[in-house]
Amino acid sequence: MKTLKRIAAGILSTALLLGMTSCAAAQQTEAANSASFTTIESGKLIMATNAFFPPYEYYEGEKVVGIDVEIATAVAQKLGLELVIEDVEFDSIIAGVQGGKYDIGCAGMTVTEDRLKSVNFSTPYATGIQSIIVTADSEIKDIDTLLGGSYKVGVQSGTTGDIYMSSSPEDGGVGEDRIERFAKGNDAVIALTSGKIDAVVIDNEPAKAFVKSNDGLKVLDTPYTVEDYAMAINKDNVALKDAINQALKELTDDGTIPAIINKYIPAEG
Ligand code: ARG
Repeated sequence: MKTLKRIAAGILSTALLLGMTSCAAAQQTEAANSASFTTIESGKLIMATNAFFPPYEYYEGEKVVGIDVEIATAVAQKLGLELVIEDVEFDSIIAGVQGGKYDIGCAGMTVTEDRLKSVNFSTPYATGIQSIIVTADSEIKDIDTLLGGSYKVGVQSGTTGDIYMSSSPEDGGVGEDRIERFAKGNDAVIALTSGKIDAVVIDNEPAKAFVKSNDGLKVLDTPYTVEDYAMAINKDNVALKDAINQALKELTDDGTIPAIINKYIPAEG
């Protein structure tokens, strides 16, 4: 009898708990994690990004906005932290996270084997595709024409577009000699518009945004690679990674992250 009662009591409290989850869960996460993780500056989550990458991060007046900013703000809120954004060169983000300058790198950053040697990555929260931008009248029709010719390719320094394209032709790139590196994606696009280079290889969403805001350009219909975007976190701060992953999970499950992405990249765009 005693056992039965206990089971009944167990079922009752589970039912109660289930009924309460929606409001309790958010608080529990905060409570459960706040004691176990640390950030560089107490109460703050310092995010490094490179804010010339619409719709993930870009300037609206003086303010950096975009998908990454909104997701990181929501994550910080879950963890009871204030988000601080540092706009830096893209190719300094990993080293800065590794060196303890920034808590996270959040910059439409692709998870790669090589980067995983220097930092941890959160659970991926979005996907990207490397795309090719050319001028509207370009004779470059697809990746094979691009690889096969002697065309000059512009990339943002240190990005996956740079890594793939600057690799040797045997490895699917065009080789160092045909690469022009730029600090920002839009600098590469400006060089393309003025005829200094023949193509830009960059992630598909910024590619679409750049083509929209510059006349006479198009994105080729041949996706090059599919990649996962995630937040880079210092390898020693596993507790922060766990807390961020928990927050990302909750924000995915309750529809917050899908809604943020959909706001900037409406489905069927
Ligand atoms: N996904 C690419 C990479 O990780 C490009 C990211 C560039 N991001 C930026 N905010 N500029 O290498």
